[in-house]
Amino acid sequence: MTTFTKTPEGETPSIDVSLQRVVSDINPLMYGGFLEHMGRCIYGGIYDPDNQHGAVDENGFRTDVIAALQELEIPVIRYPGGNFVATYHWEDGVGPREQRPRRWDPAWKAEESNAFGTDEFMKFCEIVGTEPYLALNMGTGTLDEALNWLEYCNSDRNTYYANLRRNNGREKPYNVKYWALGNETWGPWQVEEDTKENYAKRAYQWAKALKLADPNIELILCGKNGHDDWDRYVLQQCVDLIDMHSIHLYTYSHDFKENVTAPLSAERAIQITASLSELALINNPTGGWRPNGYKPPSAPPKICFDEWNVYDDQQAPGDEGGEQAYNLSDALGVAVWLNVFIRQSQHIGMANLAQNVNVLSPLSTKRDGSPGLVRQTLWWPLLLFSKYMRGKTLGVHLRSSTYEGSTFPSWIRKTTPTPWLDVSCAYDEAAGFINLAVVNIDDTRDIKTSLTLEHALPSGVTTNKQQDVQVFTVGGGDIDVKATNFDGVDRVGVVESTWTAAPRAEYTFPRHSLTLLRWSVKA
Ligand code: AHR
Repeated sequence: MTTFTKTPEGETPSIDVSLQRVVSDINPLMYGGFLEHMGRCIYGGIYDPDNQHGAVDENGFRTDVIAALQELEIPVIRYPGGNFVATYHWEDGVGPREQRPRRWDPAWKAEESNAFGTDEFMKFCEIVGTEPYLALNMGTGTLDEALNWLEYCNSDRNTYYANLRRNNGREKPYNVKYWALGNETWGPWQVEEDTKENYAKRAYQWAKALKLADPNIELILCGKNGHDDWDRYVLQQCVDLIDMHSIHLYTYSHDFKENVTAPLSAERAIQITASLSELALINNPTGGWRPNGYKPPSAPPKICFDEWNVYDDQQAPGDEGGEQAYNLSDALGVAVWLNVFIRQSQHIGMANLAQNVNVLSPLSTKRDGSPGLVRQTLWWPLLLFSKYMRGKTLGVHLRSSTYEGSTFPSWIRKTTPTPWLDVSCAYDEAAGFINLAVVNIDDTRDIKTSLTLEHALPSGVTTNKQQDVQVFTVGGGDIDVKATNFDGVDRVGVVESTWTAAPRAEYTFPRHSLTLLRWSVKA
């Protein structure tokens, strides 16, 4: 959370950090990912069993991709879609590979071999060290099919689908905790697009049946963008039985300042959704029927922001594979997105970058299958946040003048201030660091800023003693905001340095940059 005072243009901005302003825990699931059967995400991205270049392990998984996902410490991965899931039948993707049917995927207009399915995904998650999150087909799929998938994954009983899993080589249940009740079922592009009334009715009945089968799972309701009547209605109808409410948003503009302020629409969406969640609970004080042992919600459902990113669907259309060449402007857009999640951490149950490999992604594999990854510009803010912005959100007070130009969407201008510095702060008690992330959204000017950390020091350390502060910078200086790494040349990366400063000091944030400052607070 940031409190903000707008100052006149020309006044030196200031950021005041205090350890007394702990806001909430940062849920590690905020750094989640997403793998969809789309373009080269699964096939050629994580899975390439016929690879001729030694790029894969004995399972056919790309070893360099596994290492990269481990480096990002992705805690949870959503699968198998996305739009793909609206016609996906999970049974097509289990059992002997040569017997799996090839199907036509109408979402991405592609043939699906089903060579990669549930058991391969579970194995991949185990190797990466991440949790699976499965999305159910509420397009052409049935509740029966969903219950069977749950039984296949989670049951240790002597029943047909649990035994099918055993026959396929997996004795122990996978115990998949997170299940999504469909994907973007409101979207005109979906097979079996639904109305909010019909979806809410179905979602409630599906939730009841799924929780009767396995009360340990967490269900994610299909919301829209967080500020639509769909969100209000489905939350109101289903609040009793669901654990999180999903919202999706992709931001983008060719214009730099619009691109980096666009994620502020996600911040408003989170705040509005949090209110809608509360409203659903307030208007439903007694609750409805619940499976035995299933407790009524004691708090509003958190938000599962299970698709977010910067994405230009003109440059990289989804049915052509969605391989966007990300530039510095997009990387700083992602940094603002991550600041939003840190600031709003009290409402975030999970967030999933869409997607992890090749498709709308920070990582690209080569088309010829040879080893070696392109780390796109987005990789660097993602890595810095995942490594350092952990622990608890600290409230900071920001004083700054504001960008007053156009925004995209235009309603940001009407609802949300857009200070030149976009700021979030994390107190990582375990590591003993305060981490301050600052995006200078001005592409024309470095911004000198007063920083105060006096109330951030551990008790007993109140001197003006100078201290070495770790500095990580992405962008800035002469790097073009349009610079990409897409062709394999690393034009955008992280520059590390040390800044020696007292608890009250001035720092100049370079134009169009992300700066992450790390103060040790060990006494
Ligand atoms: O991530 C790409 C697509 O964007 C997903 O399949 C869909 O859910 C969203 O519209």
